[in-house]
Amino acid sequence: MRFLITAGPTREPIDPVRYLSNRSSGKMGYALAEAALAGGHEVTLVSGPVDLPAPPEASTRFVETAQEMFAAVEAEIKRAEVLICCAAVADYRVAEIAGEKIKKSGDSLTLTLVPNPDILGSARSVFGFKGFLVGFAAETEHVVAHAHGKLERKGCDLLVANDVSRSDIGFDRDENEVILIWPDRPLETLALRSKSEIARQLIARIEDSLRD
Ligand code: CTP
Repeated sequence: MRFLITAGPTREPIDPVRYLSNRSSGKMGYALAEAALAGGHEVTLVSGPVDLPAPPEASTRFVETAQEMFAAVEAEIKRAEVLICCAAVADYRVAEIAGEKIKKSGDSLTLTLVPNPDILGSARSVFGFKGFLVGFAAETEHVVAHAHGKLERKGCDLLVANDVSRSDIGFDRDENEVILIWPDRPLETLALRSKSEIARQLIARIEDSLRD
């Protein structure tokens, strides 16, 4: 099967030397790419800036901003049978990127932020994607309720939720614990284990679902 996977953070420039970003390491998305490749699938990885080696057998497109990630997914999605949106896309970008480095002054500084396009949320509604759609949800409270809302709002076949208020899992860790939320099946927890093992099991669940 042909997998399209987004991974890592995005960087939203403020001026030539500064940006807004988040703590995503890209490890989960890269582990998913490796696991899909190991399962004999074709993988296109759309990656934000990370400190990880690109899987040699994947076709990898590097991007910086959410708008670039959106454009890369739009260009690749027609060929994909499975889209996994694992990237921690910045929800906002600055309205106007300063052309020169912003100089400090004694006053407070206000940045105006405008919303970025929602890539996962556009898969069905904008790109007309008919394949298997997987979203991730990083939550700090009401994990299942919030994740369930995302599954429905964004038209996902599977939503993978994790509790980022815990310091032992999630951002920049090698291990993760996730709750799988399906539209028509009971919740399932993949208890604490390595991101590669979580990835392997997620790819197996997707393969099983597509076989049924
Ligand atoms: N996502 C995306 N593009 C965005 C924002 C998020 O593709 N601009 C994807 C992420 O890759 C992830 C899921 O959407 O799969 C998580 O989205 P999130 O931003 O947490 O969900 P929201 O519905 O925006 O909810 P909130 O920000 O209120 O938590």
